[in-house]
Amino acid sequence: MVDKRSPYTSCVHFDHNALSNTNGVNTPIYTSTSYRYSELGKSIPHYPRYLNTPNQEVLARKLAQLEHGKHAFLTSSGLAAITGACLAILKTGDHAIFQKEIYGGTYSFVENKLKDYGIEYSFFNGENPDEIQSLIKKNTKLIYVETPSNPLLTVVDLEAITRIAKTNNLVSIIDNTFATPMNQNPLDYGFDAIVHSATKYFSGHSDIIAGVIILNSDSLVPQIQDYLIHAGATLDAQTCYLLERSIKTLALRMDKHNTNAQLIAEFLEGHSKVKKVFYPGLKSFTGHELAKKQMRGFGGMMSLELDTREESLANFVDNLKIFIHAVSLGAVESLISVPRFSSHSKMSQKQREEAGVSNTLIRLSIGIEDTQDLINDLQQALDKL
Ligand SMILES: Cc1ncc(COP(=O)(O)O)c(C=O)c1O
Repeated sequence: MVDKRSPYTSCVHFDHNALSNTNGVNTPIYTSTSYRYSELGKSIPHYPRYLNTPNQEVLARKLAQLEHGKHAFLTSSGLAAITGACLAILKTGDHAIFQKEIYGGTYSFVENKLKDYGIEYSFFNGENPDEIQSLIKKNTKLIYVETPSNPLLTVVDLEAITRIAKTNNLVSIIDNTFATPMNQNPLDYGFDAIVHSATKYFSGHSDIIAGVIILNSDSLVPQIQDYLIHAGATLDAQTCYLLERSIKTLALRMDKHNTNAQLIAEFLEGHSKVKKVFYPGLKSFTGHELAKKQMRGFGGMMSLELDTREESLANFVDNLKIFIHAVSLGAVESLISVPRFSSHSKMSQKQREEAGVSNTLIRLSIGIEDTQDLINDLQQALDKL
């Protein structure tokens, strides 16, 4: 599975002829949800919910290769991957440790759902993994992180997390959605599992909802597979094909997201109407040195605080002409959102404050448009404040 070729090549070339004897360069779409038994009582047939249909298998192998993993399991959304990975591992009476600064939907799942299953949890500050040791109990099974995190771009020390996880025999899971395998490979640091919202950069065109769990070794496969087959939240062949096609340009898209975002973050940092920019590529950013150590590029996501009254926030958003005021992230078009009303709307004001998400925080998903056009757009909206 793991081979030495560059991800620039793996994004484009991967098993494209594995399912076909027609010599087509693309994977054919196998629409069947029903597959013949080969022999009565002997074989397990393909079935989409069993995660073993041809398009699922080709895509899973491609994603596993990109993340330097051994196995990948496709899910119907990023959250299906996150909840699936957690609930496959955690049982009633177990305890799990989560980073405090995680995507609002994940935070809401932890705070609002885990207790229904009798699962205990604690949060730690992602910038201070030393906190974890004091939170570990006899029944702790899991550490979960997201780096860089949504929306504060908190950078967590991958090496420190896996060291603590291994010393204490805990399963480590990371959400690698913001970085993508182009910028960061957490399995190389010893993480047990990666989860992704493939809805974001993997899709890249705001037209797919999907997720994936990628594993480093065989040991968690039975648990994850068993849970996902029961949860039933999997991907159909057409979506698998579309996602496989999207990934052919992932490397190129990420290069442009990375360069655009770096230049835009530098522009924003130098603007008098901007109070603070959260971007791992900025020297002034707390997590910059760590990001430099463990990431190859700093990604397309950033957040900012404006130096203006809260009431001006709506004007700024409305005055933008290229940036679209919309949910989600990671696609070719540049987007702007206010986490308080989007990714973190399910959290209470108190929970948002605890997670460091202010009411005026603005999140930008930088697309692949012309850099100067994007800077000009931000400039004119800032000038109007
Ligand atoms: C970092 C991160 N992880 C997971 C998710 C959930 O993904 P999905 O919406 O595909 O379920 C999101 C969604 O915004 C996200 O930003």
